[in-house]
Amino acid sequence: MRKINFFDTTLRDGEQSPGVNLNAQEKLIIAKQLERLGVNIIEAGFPASSRGDFLGVQEIARTIKNCSVAGLARCVKGDIDAAWEALKDGVEPRIHVFIATSDIHLKHKLKKTREEVVEQAVSMVKYAKERFPVVQWSAEDACRTDLAFLAEIVEKVIDAGASVINLPDTVGYLAPEEYGNIFRYMKEHVPNIDRVNLSAHCHDDLGMAVANSLAAIENGANQIETAVNGIGERAGNAALEEIAVALHIRKDFYQVESTIQLNEIKRTSDVVSKYSGMIVPRNKAVVGNNAFAHESGIHQDGFLKEKTTYEIISPELVGVTTDVLVLGKHSGRHAFKDRMKTLGFKLTEDEINKFFETFKNLTEKKKEITDDDLISIILEEKVADRKIGYEFESLQVHYGTEQMPTATVSLKNQETQEVIQEAATGAGSVEAVYNTLERCMEERIHLLDYRIQSNGKGRDALAEVYVTVSIEGKETAGRGVAQDVLEASAKAYVNAVNRHLIFKSNLIEIEKHHAIS
Ligand code: KIV
Ligand code: ZN
Repeated sequence: MRKINFFDTTLRDGEQSPGVNLNAQEKLIIAKQLERLGVNIIEAGFPASSRGDFLGVQEIARTIKNCSVAGLARCVKGDIDAAWEALKDGVEPRIHVFIATSDIHLKHKLKKTREEVVEQAVSMVKYAKERFPVVQWSAEDACRTDLAFLAEIVEKVIDAGASVINLPDTVGYLAPEEYGNIFRYMKEHVPNIDRVNLSAHCHDDLGMAVANSLAAIENGANQIETAVNGIGERAGNAALEEIAVALHIRKDFYQVESTIQLNEIKRTSDVVSKYSGMIVPRNKAVVGNNAFAHESGIHQDGFLKEKTTYEIISPELVGVTTDVLVLGKHSGRHAFKDRMKTLGFKLTEDEINKFFETFKNLTEKKKEITDDDLISIILEEKVADRKIGYEFESLQVHYGTEQMPTATVSLKNQETQEVIQEAATGAGSVEAVYNTLERCMEERIHLLDYRIQSNGKGRDALAEVYVTVSIEGKETAGRGVAQDVLEASAKAYVNAVNRHLIFKSNLIEIEKHHAIS
């Protein structure tokens, strides 16, 4: 069977989603999970866009051993040099160079002629090929490019040394049949096309990214570019999990295979959702909470008689387990350590001790600790940076239907170790908490978005809060988990401010979202 390579761009195009700013540590955790998921290529970032991105890509390239790590570059020497420096220690360094090819982009953005664009693409592919074993070249806005011109430039960059040709639907404009036709056209009109892998990269502006990617596969593409949960620029990229599962469930139709470990899908989706702050809608295909829920009486009746009446994907296939009790108050360190290993976390003894303490504290308040709870605790602790920003210490809230809510908060400044205590009121409890937190901090913070969801089921489920704040005109997301909703709200706010401070201290790049059009 034909093999389809998964080129995952969660950490590059996915990270360009408005409001998503992953720091280097979070990116590395996601990269490791993508490796475990079995993707073939991880696009880790855009090294020339910033020092933060450069360091993040470099660390991922040095750590990941079971798949290729790629970096994005414009067709300019400086970008290619930065990408080489960031990627050269990887197992199979790969560059993804791109230049726009549509007349619309040439006229208004690049202000170049077609001849100039061909010349730049060819010379920069040659330049990249002097360093990288694998050069992928992308025709940005390929789908609105004159087909004859596209065929001409593709032929020339293949001769220059490209071994993967990507034809993105940059603006998510085409219908599946039209997108498939582009691949067929290239196969029929580019004489050296058999020397390369053809790649599809689709955006979801008209909700057709997955359908378009599948149409490309039907018409000869053997690489697809995806993002977990479909995150990405504007309406997002093609969702990895939907394509992987469609190829598996409809193998009879597509007749292709991939290396994706389907039972790692749910965990990958959770990790990306928690770190990116992009909550997965309940009805999202494959990974939404309702994806396997049967509600109508007729459906339930059929399902109970024979699952296949209404179920084409089993939850187990994609790693969805029912919320079984795994650990509780009486569980010891050994059981905890064992469960962590089963969940796939490789932790040091120090980390185990630290997380075990957090776990024990939680069992005082919550009877049943599910896998989901454990993952949440660990993700929370793993990214907590104790050197920059503020550490949440304690919170007290007075609320009554006839009273103005009042909050008292205690925070520690992690640099000076000074403990800051303040109190303030608000129209509601969350507002009182946030007014108080703002008093404790030097930054002026505007809350743009607040979302809350329960992590698992039951009255004692953990609360998970996601906020987006704007500080000094920059948007940053934050996440907090606690058994109490107000504590989770406070932690999410502190997390957002800390992440902003990390960006400011140059560990992460804040200009990146403006760097790529
Ligand atoms: O959508 C797009 O065209 C891109 C390119 C950089 C490949 O993301
Ligand atoms: Zn894109």
